[in-house]
Amino acid sequence: MSLMRRVLLAGSTNAWLRDRATKTAFMRKSVSRFMPGEQMDDALKASAELKPDGITTMLTHLGENLTKVEEAEDVTQHYLQLLDRIGTSGLDVQISVKPTQLGLDLDRALCERNLDRLMERAGQRNNFVWIDMEGSPYVDPTLALFTRTRAKTPRIGIALQAYLYRTAKDVEALIPLGSAIRLVKGAYLEPADVAFPKKADTDENFFKLCTRLMEPDAREAGCLLHIGTHDVPLSDRLGTWISQNHVPSSAYEFSMLYGIQRAQQLRLAREGTRLRVLISYGEYWFPWYMRRLAERPANVGFVLKNMIGGA
Ligand code: FDA
Repeated sequence: MSLMRRVLLAGSTNAWLRDRATKTAFMRKSVSRFMPGEQMDDALKASAELKPDGITTMLTHLGENLTKVEEAEDVTQHYLQLLDRIGTSGLDVQISVKPTQLGLDLDRALCERNLDRLMERAGQRNNFVWIDMEGSPYVDPTLALFTRTRAKTPRIGIALQAYLYRTAKDVEALIPLGSAIRLVKGAYLEPADVAFPKKADTDENFFKLCTRLMEPDAREAGCLLHIGTHDVPLSDRLGTWISQNHVPSSAYEFSMLYGIQRAQQLRLAREGTRLRVLISYGEYWFPWYMRRLAERPANVGFVLKNMIGGA
């Protein structure tokens, strides 16, 4: 892992930096490249704008590692309202939540109750809920949350990270449940005893796990794979494997982040490949934005350009 990536990921959890950065004009301008706005309306408007291109979306209200029960209640209320707004919007929009937003750090039972409330509303609104995967200490409780909920409803999916050694085993455990799995490379600072230190190994594991999730037994079990990457050569390699193995389009979707690799997003949509874009919005964007910067050091140049431009 590069030094720049390490520094940015370490900075992502620094409260002092967060408070300064979110008040700084050039940082606010830079973040707008990846975030259509801070409000629910901004995210719904961005979803509507992607619809004519044939692109569907997932919305996530930024926030993580909450420290107060009332905050988890506010987040849950926000997502309940969002599910209602989506229900009347005529748009194909799902939601994506972080367990620590629903109170996982505070009280696991509270987090389960909050997720149950979202699942109940998603059922009423014929919608679908994704659970994001956070840092490695959260993998076990997040998997437990997913399997418990999946036993009650198929309207739930989970993100898994290809940089973790354990993920191959987790995939095998989730296939018989007919799980919806969003495979991503992984965005957190992880030690070498839990995650591949070399990007090339993560990339290869990503390919291996994606193909595993599209094997006939996984398809027959009802699995849905979200291929969550902006890595064009890797996406193309998977596209070739998909056509060689005659995988039906119902078995997978590509998923990407708002504002990243827009040309590739349009290319996939024009080819008729299903693509779902994750749109993040909200005021608590600092740790999320630092992870985006860490993914591509060139993005730091973009921030500096905004700073010099005095925006
Ligand atoms: P990779 O890092 O290999 O880069 C390939 C190319 O993509 C780069 O050369 C660049 O051109 C472009 N690119 C990638 N990131 C960019 C950026 N930030 N800005 C500009 N260009 C960029 N992680 C996690 O730990 N838990 C989660 O729940 C999720 N959820 C999630 C959902 C979806 C839909 C996506 C696409 C990603 C996530 N992630 C995530 C993030 C994921 O783990 C990973 O950090 C990023 O997707 C970057 O890895 P890639 O495979 O996209 O590209």
